[in-house]
Amino acid sequence: MAEVLVTGGAGFIGSNFVRFALAHHPDWRVTTLDKLTYAGRRENLHDVMNDPRHTFVHGDIADAAVSAPLVEQSDLVVHFAAETHVDRSILAAGDFIKTDVEGTFVLLEAARRAKNLKRFIQISTDEVYGSVASGASVETDELKPRNPYSASKAGADRLAYSYWATYDVPVIITRASNNYGPYQFPEKVIPLFVTNAIDDIPVPLYGDGRQIRDWLHVDDHCRAVDLLIERGTSGEVYNIGGGNEVMNIDLTMKILSGLGKPQSLIKPVADRPGHDRRYCLDTAKLRAVGWTPQVPFETGLRESLEWYRANEWWWRPIKENDPAFRSYYQAQYERRT
Ligand code: NAD
Ligand code: TYD
Repeated sequence: MAEVLVTGGAGFIGSNFVRFALAHHPDWRVTTLDKLTYAGRRENLHDVMNDPRHTFVHGDIADAAVSAPLVEQSDLVVHFAAETHVDRSILAAGDFIKTDVEGTFVLLEAARRAKNLKRFIQISTDEVYGSVASGASVETDELKPRNPYSASKAGADRLAYSYWATYDVPVIITRASNNYGPYQFPEKVIPLFVTNAIDDIPVPLYGDGRQIRDWLHVDDHCRAVDLLIERGTSGEVYNIGGGNEVMNIDLTMKILSGLGKPQSLIKPVADRPGHDRRYCLDTAKLRAVGWTPQVPFETGLRESLEWYRANEWWWRPIKENDPAFRSYYQAQYERRT
């Protein structure tokens, strides 16, 4: 049996990965380490909580007393845990430095001592490249992060690299584009707009709405990470991009028409400060390892709309009963209108 540690496994991508790992690797024992911040929820793992090959540990990656022994006993570490929302990082950056940079440092220190560690997958992001005016980012491009979230992730990305270059920790760094799919916290644009629209609440579109993101279905992301665990090379960076460049305004129209809602729900609001205009990834390096995205955007988006429509049990308690979410929503959106 391989011992696999997934940090941030109660979040959006982490929980999808835990489910994927248990389904595809009968010889893996998976431990989820998660602090259960506002974004981490046991509900995200509801169907695997009682799986005998899965253990859930409630703890902070930055707390070495909890996280270090877990890393030291692992064969594989897949490190998703992070503060992840750009808008929150603009309101208050402290937690981003603490978790994304310091937390990663604590894990890497433990990784130096781990006897059986074969992979440490550092989940970075395409946002470390900064805004891309034209063309597509390749892995060797300069990093030009422009907000506290992406700057923290760039710090962690390079710190992880340094632990490979200096101490031979078997680090692989992935930089994925914007993910979408089930269990995404309804602060990010797709689940926010979908759940607002279901309730006929206006969807707040930033600025001119002509910013571009490259959408990646979370299942394609899981397949890429899984492939890199098997066939990636330590010390290397791999872009993971869906190849679906879509303008925010077009995305919004697709969501509204997919739900049968009127375009009058679109509410233009003040832009995000320092808003990155466009991200775009060159994925030739990952494709050469054997990956291609399998979920066409139109299909993935339609299925995601269906998932949020069918799973109100999952998102309504956040949007309707969680005072922290309400006060975040007010702080974030009142000042924009
Ligand atoms: P998320 O916000 O949904 O989940 C993050 C998880 O990390 C939560 O479960 C949270 O409780 C946990 N966490 C936060 N701080 C922690 C700490 N100190 N100790 C332990 N657990 C902690 O995020 P996500 O969208 O699933 O993103 C996962 C990873 O993928 C992040 O590293 C993010 O930077 C990266 N990424 C995300 C995207 C995207 O589009 N969502 C794209 C590229 C890369
Ligand atoms: P988001 O989901 O926050 O991801 P990221 O900022 O990491 O790319 O936002 C995706 C795009 O949608 C981004 O260009 C900002 C825009 N956006 C809005 O227009 N309105 C919103 O309420 C949110 C949350 C995002």
